[in-house]
Amino acid sequence: KVKVVTCIAPVNIAVIKYWGKSDENLIIPINDSLSGTLSMDFMCAKTTIIASPELQENTFWLNGKEQSFNNKRLTNCLQEVKRLASKSLPHLNWKFSIKSENNFPTAAGLASSAAGYACLVSALAKLYEIEDNVSFIARMGSGSACRSMYGGWVLWCKGSSPDGRDSIAKQIAPASHWPEMRVLILVVNDERKKYSSTDAMKRSVETSELLKYRANQIVPKMTKACIEAIQKKDFEIFAEITMKESNSIHAICQDTYPPCVYLNDTSHTVANAVHAYNEFKSSNKVAYTYDAGPNAVLYLLDSSVDEFMSVINYLFPPQDTAEYYKGLPLSSNQLSQDLKMALNIPVQEPGCLKYIIHTKIGEGPKILTDP
Ligand code: DP6
Repeated sequence: KVKVVTCIAPVNIAVIKYWGKSDENLIIPINDSLSGTLSMDFMCAKTTIIASPELQENTFWLNGKEQSFNNKRLTNCLQEVKRLASKSLPHLNWKFSIKSENNFPTAAGLASSAAGYACLVSALAKLYEIEDNVSFIARMGSGSACRSMYGGWVLWCKGSSPDGRDSIAKQIAPASHWPEMRVLILVVNDERKKYSSTDAMKRSVETSELLKYRANQIVPKMTKACIEAIQKKDFEIFAEITMKESNSIHAICQDTYPPCVYLNDTSHTVANAVHAYNEFKSSNKVAYTYDAGPNAVLYLLDSSVDEFMSVINYLFPPQDTAEYYKGLPLSSNQLSQDLKMALNIPVQEPGCLKYIIHTKIGEGPKILTDP
């Protein structure tokens, strides 16, 4: 008699960013945020939990390395799940072994804690037969993880309860609502020291005056407008908000003292190319957004992918073509002379972009095996 649950969970990319906490321990954000959940075809976390009365102790393995339970975020999640579980479950006090893996392309170097905690909490909720919205538990693992608990377009409401019970994620539209939406992840070569979003946003809360204005004045307006744009499938407005929002958090990062600079020259060149392309098309066809790193994530409609990929192919020649494209062939499109002129950006050194992932909006976590 053992219980086995296997679950996969997706990555999400915010268009309205979470940046700053009002409670460090419970992970309560200072502003609402909004994201698209990415399809699990290319990137997902996978977790298997085996619970058995025979096991002597709890173990947790992440990407093949044993982890200690001496981790506040992990123990907060476990404690909340057990609190919600029915006390009459026979396996409630069995020991378990957890194995988690991120199936991200190794070169991608993308944040994985969101998919990882969403996966862990989904698997635990299944094991302990909890049916409620458990996004607030995923949130206690990593803030952005609560948005990976749903597919499609997801709003994380900061909530107002001091215990964080109402700081939860909700789906505002399913993946099927805007099936034309595509996501390109341009993985940038960057050797600089990385600083964690957890530490950086804490420093922003402590030192940036602008952060308060962003959280209280800008984000509420932008969030409302962005939800409307998604509901109406208005790409023009959606793109403008997405880009302004990304620029806003990187301005806050710059206003943080000492500043945390995440974007590099390649990131800026991608943003310039997007603006030049949109201007050439006389409307927004592509939107960029950047998290706590130099990689550009582009939201665009399927009708723009081929032409914009030819812009990227032209500006960022690959060093190693085999490793360069995942999920889409090299664009066969030759860039027109007009468009080259309009871009007015020099061709970059080969290898500035390491890797491109082509994906779309997808579903929420999925249970692969039932206990
Ligand atoms: C820039 O969720 O990784 O990606 O809650 O401290 O674990 P913790 O931080 P995390 O921060 C994500 C920040 C972001 C913006 C976003 O995803 O909304």
